[in-house]
Amino acid sequence: MHNLINANQYIKSTEDLDSLKTLMTVFESNIKPDGVRNRAYLKLLWNRKSEKITVADNQVYFQSAKSNVTDGGKARHFAVMDKQILNLKIMKNVINTNVNFIREFSLLKQYKELVLGLHFIRYKANRYGASYSSPDCLHIDDEPLVFVHLLNLSPNAWGGDNLIADIKTKEIKNVIRLEQPFETIILTKDYYHAVTALGAREGVATRDILLFTVEPNETQMEAVA
Ligand SMILES: [Fe+2]
Repeated sequence: MHNLINANQYIKSTEDLDSLKTLMTVFESNIKPDGVRNRAYLKLLWNRKSEKITVADNQVYFQSAKSNVTDGGKARHFAVMDKQILNLKIMKNVINTNVNFIREFSLLKQYKELVLGLHFIRYKANRYGASYSSPDCLHIDDEPLVFVHLLNLSPNAWGGDNLIADIKTKEIKNVIRLEQPFETIILTKDYYHAVTALGAREGVATRDILLFTVEPNETQMEAVA
């Protein structure tokens, strides 16, 4: 499939694997409950000309009501991820690889500054329970470009599968399961997508992802405190 990125684009060495372990430690100590998920967020700004990446002063996240009937139309305050995470080699790989893609992404080429949203999310379900993303049905994101990086999927997990559907008919065309760390799927407005709820065969199942969203600065609500 054209919109999948192999994990080896992000994990290239044993040093990267070690860095991934550190990332997961930082991940676990920073995520906080958000409904049926745990999460932490870090908003960055990328300047096309200078190639500089800075941490945004305003860390509030906004989604339109149109793109998220459950939680859209309001500013959402998430736990802020420790910005030291940016010093990890694996995160440098993520940003470099994704920025190389973003730079050439035609729909965003006119923008001088883009918001890079790093959403660190843990779905966690007990046996016969459920954890799911918001919205939980086929939709198109506000953000013109989103990278879904799997960080970890526990072997007792049920569900957590990505669905891709036709933009006109909503017919489901692809089912993808990200299983290995840093297997990645790219989402655009060219098709609908959804992810099935996470369940557990036994014990407690987890699905950890890094959602890397890309959008023009102007679609984020700057003035919201
Ligand atoms: Fe989405």
